Amino acid sequence: MAFPYQLKTPDAYHDAYRQSQKDPEAFWAGIASHFTWHKPWHSVVRSDFHTATHSWFEGGKLNITENCLDRYAASQPDTTAILWEPNNPAESTRTLTYRQLLDEVMLFANALKHRGICKGDRVCIYMGMVPELAIAVLACARIGAIHSVIFGGFSASSIADRVQDAGAKAIITCDGAFRGAKTIPLKSVVDDALQHCPTVQSVWVLRRTHEPVSMHNGRDYDWHSETEAMRATGNTHCHAESMDAEDPLFILYTSGSTGKPKGVVHTTAGYMLWAHYTFINVFQYQPGQIHFCTADIGWITGHSYILYGPLSAGATTLMFEGIPTWPDAGRFWDIVQKHNVDILYTAPTAIRSLMTFGTAPLQNKDLSSLKVLGTVGEPINAEAWHWYDREVGKGNAPIADTWWQTETGGIMISNLAGVTPAKPTFATLPLPGVFPVLVDENGKEIAGNGVSGNLCIQKPWPGIIRSTWGDHERCRQTYFSTYPGLYFTGDGCLRDEDGHYRITGRVDDVLSVSGHRIGTAEVENAINMHAGVVESAVVGFPHDIKGQGIYAYVICSSMPANETEMRQDILQTVSQVIGPIAKPDAIQFVSGLPKTRSGKIMRRILRKIAEGETQNLGDTTTLLDPGVVEEILRGKQA
Ligand code: WTA
Repeated sequence: MAFPYQLKTPDAYHDAYRQSQKDPEAFWAGIASHFTWHKPWHSVVRSDFHTATHSWFEGGKLNITENCLDRYAASQPDTTAILWEPNNPAESTRTLTYRQLLDEVMLFANALKHRGICKGDRVCIYMGMVPELAIAVLACARIGAIHSVIFGGFSASSIADRVQDAGAKAIITCDGAFRGAKTIPLKSVVDDALQHCPTVQSVWVLRRTHEPVSMHNGRDYDWHSETEAMRATGNTHCHAESMDAEDPLFILYTSGSTGKPKGVVHTTAGYMLWAHYTFINVFQYQPGQIHFCTADIGWITGHSYILYGPLSAGATTLMFEGIPTWPDAGRFWDIVQKHNVDILYTAPTAIRSLMTFGTAPLQNKDLSSLKVLGTVGEPINAEAWHWYDREVGKGNAPIADTWWQTETGGIMISNLAGVTPAKPTFATLPLPGVFPVLVDENGKEIAGNGVSGNLCIQKPWPGIIRSTWGDHERCRQTYFSTYPGLYFTGDGCLRDEDGHYRITGRVDDVLSVSGHRIGTAEVENAINMHAGVVESAVVGFPHDIKGQGIYAYVICSSMPANETEMRQDILQTVSQVIGPIAKPDAIQFVSGLPKTRSGKIMRRILRKIAEGETQNLGDTTTLLDPGVVEEILRGKQA
């Protein structure tokens, strides 16, 4: 299938951009008409930035799985939809064709229905990167249940928070997950979480590691026997629930500047369109190509560019269970060679970490199938960009540096690979339908080129966040109230002389650690749970591989006798409360924190100290006790 709306020349891009500005309704209606609908929409877009209400294709009815599965199961049944590469290279690859994937999705959807899961119910999914994770997500979408995938690295208490906030009725999990040389006991983590989750009525367990798990009678169901029961009773067909365009498709929890993660809500039609349109255009996908996005489905990148984007295009999406450095640092390149990967989409952190192994792991690997490379999640430094271009793409595969967020549903600013020019460290130009604006602290627009400011978006796009689950006001306040009339991204940005955008990093208290979003307040809350801790302040600092590291200043009730032990205890606490991804890289014990007279922590100073600055700490005269800064400087952790 060719895509008439694929932009193949710079002119086509500029024309589409202008069109999306001049007549957004006609522009998006034209693209939406290529999808399968049960009922047409009556209005393309309605939006009010002041109340944070946006709707796309209102009145329309559809099911996203028909657009991702049924239409390709009919037109190209034997094309591989999911190509799965196991953690252990000695184990066999699995493939699911579009026909097979649809069948599996319908079977599991029926199993869920059979146990009382219906349209609108929330279902949390906490699994490793196995094909059944994709099946579970799509099965929810098939019956209109709202999925909320929780990244497999989160702790029991993080799961409990999310399950409670979503009021989830079911959890789908695995006995365990393989990750490199480790196995992670997912089901027992879920069991711990469920002690505090009264809404959960059923737990579905897929066997993967075959380690023993406890199965609660009447609550826990075995994936395999439940689906086999459906097969045995001929319950193999599952009709696709007719969803309103604005019915929620999923909730994905993400960190912000407050202590509590928020459930970003995306709805059906607009999200589908956005994931699809951006996939086709940014990666310049051609029918038959193999797309390898290395993210985990627990993050938005996996939702949009492992599942919904590629599947809505009839592509073959490669799902990898393992990690880039196991059994050795050549694993990505082995996969590219073995499966003739055309498009590789990864994070700068992965590139930087692989760079530390030098080029030896790339020797004798045939990477000539690669046509397009992509990066996402954090700013890419020039060195990593050039290494990716030279060593991986061999100078022949254009790199798309894609800027976007959980809240935007899909890519917002990026060059179109090989079509519009790339520029190292720049995301370059907005996609059609995306209208960025830079503003100063007071919300005044900074016009012209060669300027920097806070990045905002001034018009609705189809993938725009619809709400934060259970608390719409929070959505309005977080994104639409800082600069009235604009969506505020939380990112700082430079627009160069050519009008190209470069995202410089967060301007709020959100860190990007190895491309994962972590709120400093969340880490502080976790540290403060330790019995011996009185108060803490967490800031980011530049980290060679992770992009940003986590630096924690901690006040204990009494100065710890054994600092090393106390550090270990605090790390353990953070792992328990959030998960290992949020463990600080440095912990410094202090007797006080720099505070203003009104008691506000001066993070600016703490950030500078963590960055290694010793002299220009700015104005410290407004501090309650300026002496504390001297003490902190003396105790700085390397
Ligand atoms: C950052 C990930 C620079 C940014 C898809 C954003 C980037 C946050 C880029 C969203 C990029 C993402 N260049 N920074 N190409 N892409 N970011 O919600 O700070 O996990 O606000 O979504 O990642 O992270 P999230």
